[in-house]
This record gives sequence, C-alpha cells and structure tokens, in this order.
Amino acid sequence: MPLFIKNKKSVTLDERLTHIAFIMDGNGRWATSRGLPREQGHRAGAKAFQTVAQYCEKLALRAMTVYAFSTENWKRPTREVEAIMDLLEEYIDSCEEELKDHSVQFHFIGDRAPLRASLKTKMDRLEETTRENRMVLNIAVNYGARAELCRAFETLRSNGTSISEQSICEALFTAHSGDPDMIVRTGGDLRISNFLLWQAAYAELYFTDKLWPDFGPSDVDAAIHEFYSRQRRYGGV
Ligand code: IPE
Ligand code: IPE
Ligand code: MG
Repeated sequence: MPLFIKNKKSVTLDERLTHIAFIMDGNGRWATSRGLPREQGHRAGAKAFQTVAQYCEKLALRAMTVYAFSTENWKRPTREVEAIMDLLEEYIDSCEEELKDHSVQFHFIGDRAPLRASLKTKMDRLEETTRENRMVLNIAVNYGARAELCRAFETLRSNGTSISEQSICEALFTAHSGDPDMIVRTGGDLRISNFLLWQAAYAELYFTDKLWPDFGPSDVDAAIHEFYSRQRRYGGV
C-alpha cells in the first residue's frame, strides 16, 4: 500500500487518488440539534469547508470538488438561501485577502445566471486571479447534474459536435478537472442528490454519519484510508 503515514497525523497520496468530491450535508441538523437557526449551521459548515480545503491543499490533492448549493436548494426559505449566498460572498472576500497564502485555482460550477450580480462578479474575479494556481477547487453553486448534462448536450448539438463519451466530458462543467476518484457524503444519507452523475461512474462512494460542521482533517484521513483499502476493478476481474 503506497499510502504512507507522516507523523501519524497526515497521509500522502499517490496517482490513484488525485480528486475528492464532497457532498457537504448536515449543516441544518447540526444547528437544530443545538437549538440554533439553520443559518448558524451553514456558518459552521463554511468554517469546516475552509479547514478541509486547506487540509486537501496540504495533502497536495490535485483537485477537490464541493457541493455548496444545488439546483433544488432554491426550495428552501428565502432567509436560508440568502444566508448561504452571503456566506459565499464572505468566503470569496476572505480568499481575495489571502490570495498570496494559497495555491488554489477556483472554479464555480453550475448555472450562475440566477445568482445575484455581486456574487457573480466576485466569482468571475476570483477565477480569473487564481487560474495559474496548482490545486483545482470546484465549488458547485446552483449545480445539478441533470441540468449540467442537458446543457452539455445542447452545447454539442448547437456546435454540431458528434456525441461521444469524450465530447460529453469536454462539455461538462468539470472538463478541466475530470472525474473524482472518491465522493464523500457527510450527514448520514445514502444518496447522490443530483451531484456529478456522469462523473461518478466509477468513483468510490464514502458515506459518514458525521454532520458536515463536525467533519475535519482526521475524517478526511479516515476516508482516504478506506479508499486505499478498496479494490477498484472497473468491470474487470
Ligand atoms: C448542506 O446542509 C448544505 C446545503 C444543502 C446548502 P443541509 O442544510 O442540507 O443540512 P441538513 O441536511 O438539513 O441537516
Ligand atoms: C445536497 O444536500 C446538496 C448540498 C450538499 C449542497 P441536500 O440536503 O440538498 O440533499 P437532500 O435534499 O437530502 O437529498
Ligand atoms: Mg441536507
């Protein structure tokens, strides 16, 4: 097993694990169980996300993708949706202030059209200023895999490009980062919830009951250990 424990604390990865995707679920339940409004759960979740992203950067992961807001999450109360959008703006502002300390190349995946103008401007600017950086960080906002596939097919059709697995991959939001090797979902539910349906074809799925705000570097390590204990056969023997 090429996985190697450094100082019994962190792990070093090899070519088999270069991209991890996270379904960051459980913020609402984390808050409710503490008698707090759900918005506080999203704030705690945003903090956990920053810790996990920094840890993945330290592990020298090539790409990380996180599900921050789905195409279905608009069904939530306006107050909660607005709080999530505020947190995204705050996060982008904080990244802009600390740009020199990081090697992250930001990409916002999903349909930006219905997002507020101030957020769209910040997304564009952060992507532009970080595009030479090393680690890809895809943040899925107003993302739904079915909508992504419809958009990809429509792009191919209107360009007159023939349909193939490769042309579809190239028309997806993730064309620059490829498929995740592992998808981690926190919060205890055993489903994909319209995340990376095409890209998940051979991803290892890892589910944990931990709620996202409680998820941290040692939980990333546990998922990585589990990944390396599995045999990926891709249909072979
Ligand atoms: C995930 O946490 C964050 C988003 C979907 C935006 P939830 O808000 O879904 O938390 P639970 O699942 O209700 O606990
Ligand atoms: C998935 O969580 C979306 C995000 C984590 C952004 P949801 O809480 O929206 O998923 P369901 O409703 O439990 O399937
Ligand atoms: Mg949820």
